[in-house]
Amino acid sequence: MSDTSWTLHVPAAPHLSAGTAMNALAPLLHDWLPRQRWFAGKGHRITGFSLRSGTELLPVGGTGRTPGLLHLLVEVEQAAAAPHSGDRPPPRHSDCYQLLLGLTGVLAPHLAHARIGRPESGPLEGLTVYEAMHDPRLAGLLLERLRAPGSLGGLRFRRSAGSAVPAGLTPRLSTAEQSNTSIVYGDSCILKLFRRISPGRNPDLELTLALARQGCSRVPAPAAWFETVHPRGDRGEPTTLGVLQHYLPGALDGWDWGLAAVDTVLGEGRDRSGDEAFTAESFLLGRATAEVHSALARALPGAVLHRPQLEALAAGMAERLDAAAAAVPALVHHRAGLRTAFADLADLGRRGRAVTAQRIHGDLHLGQTLRTEDGWKLIDFEGEPARPLSERRMPQPAVRDVAAMLRSFDYAARWSEMTAERPPDPGACARAARWAEVNRAAFCAGYAEAGDHDPRDEHVLMRAFETDKAVYEVLYEARNRPSWLPIPLAACARLAAARR
Ligand SMILES: Nc1ncnc2c1ncn2[C@@H]1O[C@H](COP(=O)(O)OP(=O)(O)O)[C@@H](O)[C@H]1O
Ligand SMILES: [Mg+2]
Repeated sequence: MSDTSWTLHVPAAPHLSAGTAMNALAPLLHDWLPRQRWFAGKGHRITGFSLRSGTELLPVGGTGRTPGLLHLLVEVEQAAAAPHSGDRPPPRHSDCYQLLLGLTGVLAPHLAHARIGRPESGPLEGLTVYEAMHDPRLAGLLLERLRAPGSLGGLRFRRSAGSAVPAGLTPRLSTAEQSNTSIVYGDSCILKLFRRISPGRNPDLELTLALARQGCSRVPAPAAWFETVHPRGDRGEPTTLGVLQHYLPGALDGWDWGLAAVDTVLGEGRDRSGDEAFTAESFLLGRATAEVHSALARALPGAVLHRPQLEALAAGMAERLDAAAAAVPALVHHRAGLRTAFADLADLGRRGRAVTAQRIHGDLHLGQTLRTEDGWKLIDFEGEPARPLSERRMPQPAVRDVAAMLRSFDYAARWSEMTAERPPDPGACARAARWAEVNRAAFCAGYAEAGDHDPRDEHVLMRAFETDKAVYEVLYEARNRPSWLPIPLAACARLAAARR
């Protein structure tokens, strides 16, 4: 339990302790949380809840007739999956989640799908708890808070200098498949609420603010954000909870566009112009990525990786490979070949090579790109949410992003091929592979043209990062979507044989 004490005001019982309210909510959250897409601990038993902070953004009014809005940071403790010996208690881990809960006496029928439950006893008895951001009134209230900088309880609302956020915009919850929750306001702004909270400044705010200061138009600028100092990060900064960005209306998602382009290639005899147009787009996307990298290198401190750092990087990758091979037997066959990618990386350091590192996107793929009338934009600078924040904020070789994007082209090609609803076609696999190759090359060529280095000249680094990513994908697919496992396994087979 944290040391934060708080008070919940509801009409029936005005001063409730955090513990009492949490007791009332715990049984509801126990059932509801594991069903949420953004809940990271699926499949592990929840063993406890503790409240980090609670802030009443709006009290329930008129004996429950107008809804209240409650902001909670809840630490969810779970039994870890690791095996344990019988005489020791099972290992546990905990994650902190951000919840915005609506409280109402009578839930309107159009919000029935947002219902979380109705506490049977205690201070919230008689109220229905629901997901607040489904309710336009409560989502609108959050926007109003963001428009007016200041503190409320443990929360701090901040605005970017000179940013204008219109009032009265109509909110709608984004339906995009995502690991956080986003609300689009009118066609002007989009608010991303981080769900799993790591103490400290989120790179999705840190990097987008830095890019805006550089005048980089490839990334939507943050207009406002909110944060808490309970807890602070290990560098003493507040913890980011949500970022409001300018919305790009009518933008085309790079992943969807990529899939459509592969589909044209797979449909024999059809017009191929869509495919060629996409290759030109891949080139432009490479250019946009290089521009963002250059701006990040100017904006934030970098580092130079020498032998110890390169060896440590390679060792981390080799460890992840071993862990993945232990969990996915099909990977064992490729392990020796894949290890050479990491051995070659360590060897770079031993041969005295120094590698420049800088802040990067950290989780770049086609689904993190949007094509607007004004060219390609990159979004979601959070990095890989599963990795610790301190690691995500470290300078890294820029080619890590390039390698990740190359994996995404491969995924788009194979994904389309595997889901195509047409008669079996022996040539499809080769055509999809060719599409990936052409677009990967176009992306690299665009990157080289706009950036200060050509990723194709950095074969050892590229192969190591691409391998590390493919190994990660193998483990992810084995756990979450076994039917997709052939995609990264095929990449691993290729990468294992790719030494030169
Ligand atoms: N500035 C924006 N303009 C238009 N759409 C956006 C914008 N930012 C995000 N989106 C949409 O929301 C989706 C999720 O955003 P993202 O930042 O990637 O969230 P997550 O961290 O949950 O993956 C994107 O795939 C995109 O469709
Ligand atoms: Mg995303």
